Amino acid sequence: MTDSTHQVDLLTGHRRMRRNRKADWTRRMVRENSLTVDDLIWPIFLVPGTGISEPIAAMPGVMRLSVDKAAEAAREAADLGIPALATFPNIDSALRDETGSNSLSGDNLINQATRAIKKAVPNIGVITDVALDPFTSHGHDGILRDGEIINDETVAQIARAAVIQAEAGSDIIAPSDMMDGRIGAIRQALDAAGHQSVGIMAYATKFASAYYGPYREAIGTGGLLKGDKKTYYIDPANATEAMRDAALDVEEGADMLMVKPGLPYLDICWRMKEAFGLPVFAYQVSGEYTMIKAAAANGWIDGERVMLETLLAFKRAGCDGILSYFAMDVARLLAKR
Ligand code: PBG
Repeated sequence: MTDSTHQVDLLTGHRRMRRNRKADWTRRMVRENSLTVDDLIWPIFLVPGTGISEPIAAMPGVMRLSVDKAAEAAREAADLGIPALATFPNIDSALRDETGSNSLSGDNLINQATRAIKKAVPNIGVITDVALDPFTSHGHDGILRDGEIINDETVAQIARAAVIQAEAGSDIIAPSDMMDGRIGAIRQALDAAGHQSVGIMAYATKFASAYYGPYREAIGTGGLLKGDKKTYYIDPANATEAMRDAALDVEEGADMLMVKPGLPYLDICWRMKEAFGLPVFAYQVSGEYTMIKAAAANGWIDGERVMLETLLAFKRAGCDGILSYFAMDVARLLAKR
């Protein structure tokens, strides 16, 4: 033993963290978390028409798909082992109105897509959103009257929309609107209509975030939205309030919880998992995706490694899965390994 080794041993008391890191095989042996295809939920954007797959400028690599293309994409996703899709429609602007009435049509874009996907690929899960923002002329998630988002009327409407989505074949209703009391109302409405096995993934903690910008371009609400969503989404400064909000969703019957956005809110993921023990999902939102893509496109980061490290971080923070626009890229990478 050299003198300097002796010195270090005195300080570490022979505890050397690097022994377990010395080779690839030791690192694999002690690895605590891993990312698998089962952790991935793939959000997709829908457009009317057929044969359409159109790029979204602010989300390089992400397409808006017509219903037929969405069914093809679902087939590819299922073949790679992705358990579920989440669909978001960019409907004709002529169909958007003050109250988002098209959300109640059994044949609207989102319900058409659910039917087509479930018919083509029965073994992939379809998760649908009941928030009104894709359907309103003002881009808000609820009914807007005299500058106010009317809570209870919105809840009544989205509970009806949830039943219509379940009738189209949706497996899990995921309400992203953050109205008070929506989880209980949706549960009641689903049960009353005989949809006991349709689940609810609560956007339990959705923050009033700047990270949603590219999504609003994707569904065409960017130019429409007047004001902001601060009267219904959670203030990014508040964690205790977020936990109270999530607790209500649990009480009202949520089967799964979601944290949105993802990476800036890993503390919330961890706390929710610890507090409730329900399955917890993070939504790595459009802005998070775009930042990685933009930096990688400039050669400033290794996009593939940052993508994988970021998704693994969600697992370490206690998440059971991640909604990610990277889902297909990751599934293809994992399949090669
Ligand atoms: C609104 C909704 C949002 C997202 C999905 N549904 C946020 C918003 O536009 O305010 C964001 C998804 C993303 O950024 O990837 N109900």
